[in-house]
Amino acid sequence: MPAITFIHSNGQSERVEASEGESAMLAATRSGLDGILAECGGNAMCATCHVYVDEAWLERLPAMEDGEDALLDGTAAERRANSRLSCQIKLSGEFDGLVLRLPERQV
Ligand code: FES
Repeated sequence: MPAITFIHSNGQSERVEASEGESAMLAATRSGLDGILAECGGNAMCATCHVYVDEAWLERLPAMEDGEDALLDGTAAERRANSRLSCQIKLSGEFDGLVLRLPERQV
């Protein structure tokens, strides 16, 4: 079971246990983590599940699809080179230890 770490914008970190195949967004919201709103429920329509992927992990994630790329242009917080939508990051054992940073705001 992959465990991922979310780092809040204030530097506080939270470790979340995820189920195999679950998205990072779902693992976060199921665990009651603040900072991921996920207003569209993971349908890649809202961009309120924005995260910054730790540089060490960036290359290891599957490439984003066009829809995710377009939505990331509308995030409330600044889009960066390591921005992703956490609902589009599907977790498996190989992502154990993944680190995701949360933006200051989602709306
Ligand atoms: S939950 Fe809406 S885009 Fe990810």
